[in-house]
Amino acid sequence: MKILVIGQGGREHALVWKLAQSPLAEKIYCAPGNAGIADIAESVQIGNGLAELADWAKAENIALTVVGPEAPLAEGIVDTFRERGLKAFGPDKRAARLEASKDFAKQLMAKNGIPTAAYRTFVDADEAITYIKTRNAPVFVKANGLAAGKGVIPGRTLAQATAAVKTILVDRAFGEAGDSVVIEEELIGEEASFTVLTDGTHCVPFVSSQDHKMSHDGDTGKNTGGMGAYSPAPVITPELHDYVMERVVYPTLNGMADIGSTFKGVLYVGLMITDTGPKVLEFNCRFGDPEAQVLFPRLKSDLVPLLIACVDGTLAAYTDSGLQTPPTKKGVEWHAEAAAGVVMASGGYPDPYQTGKVITGLAEAAALEGVTVFHAGTKQNGEQVVTAGGRVLCVTAVGDRLKSAIEQAYRGVSAIHFADAHFRHDIGHRALG
Ligand code: AMP
Ligand code: GLY
Repeated sequence: MKILVIGQGGREHALVWKLAQSPLAEKIYCAPGNAGIADIAESVQIGNGLAELADWAKAENIALTVVGPEAPLAEGIVDTFRERGLKAFGPDKRAARLEASKDFAKQLMAKNGIPTAAYRTFVDADEAITYIKTRNAPVFVKANGLAAGKGVIPGRTLAQATAAVKTILVDRAFGEAGDSVVIEEELIGEEASFTVLTDGTHCVPFVSSQDHKMSHDGDTGKNTGGMGAYSPAPVITPELHDYVMERVVYPTLNGMADIGSTFKGVLYVGLMITDTGPKVLEFNCRFGDPEAQVLFPRLKSDLVPLLIACVDGTLAAYTDSGLQTPPTKKGVEWHAEAAAGVVMASGGYPDPYQTGKVITGLAEAAALEGVTVFHAGTKQNGEQVVTAGGRVLCVTAVGDRLKSAIEQAYRGVSAIHFADAHFRHDIGHRALG
């Protein structure tokens, strides 16, 4: 069958890489793709409109479309494809509100008793500031809508929290995404992410993973999309796994179905593991980036039929309950090896950075045992591959143990060069420590 992947980052390279291993995949297209994806899929430039993409897919007889990023999901790409009788993996526009509106997600959690931080939502800046004064800092101030991962501002002091409210509601730094703000209590603990595939009723949980959001070593610097990831994440114990399935994942899916908005696709739960148990920080409606880059190398089963089962509502064939106790019988198969991915970014990221730097050593890195170099912000410039984004590459390695996977990923990083490259030196430190 012909498969189309939408997106252009490291997550999409990992998706294409895994899908391409399926005997069911005759040909893979990626819109728009990047320099690394172009080695294994045909890059197609179809313009930005959803209707244009869907018309192209219809004309090309695409059997399955896999949507990488959240923006097209929130815009309704799955609905547009469905109207033309095309299968697209991911939630429809109404279900994608779980990520696209933090207020929607918080209301759903409140209604269904899902553990999360206490919060209030405001459209008026003065009311928001009055509320913060009654609560006191620290709080987290969040633009309600999608803001490319930049809409969450910590308010450690009253002054910071007040400034954050003004940035979002008055200065409109995130445009429409800042029509309202969600103000949350601060949660303390270790973060972890939890990923499941779902057809709306049944779930296949992925192995655990963890990313590193801060730009610099020791979790300092600025919040980014993710500077590296590893799997498994020891913080997710089997007991915690079952707790999250029972207290978060199923109540969320049932809560969505109850309001007539069945959620199909990937449910990515961002968690804070607090002293009083795991609490939800956020829901995403797509695979994590860079979590996908460490999850797919560990997945042994064919991804294509799994994604189709999510769209068709037949995922029950793969899962009993998704719980580890008792262990699932029909589950999906995973490799025992661990995986680690180190993001190489443009110097300056997540602040403004330069692009167009020539990248060398890609083939040398890829030749190392167990190493796969996933491209994020790259493009082909004649014979050369050059940088074209903030996160440039995710150098991933598998190994018998997490420690050896991490060491091998760093050997890959050492082989690669571009001007002003920046990466963290401590990916996986929490799991090793
Ligand atoms: P979000 O996009 O909501 O996951 O927020 C981005 C990051 O901000 C998270 O990964 C956390 O590191 C941090 N964060 C968000 N909300 C909270 C909270 N209530 N307490 C502590 N940290 C938070
Ligand atoms: N790595 C975090 C995310 O994809 O949202």
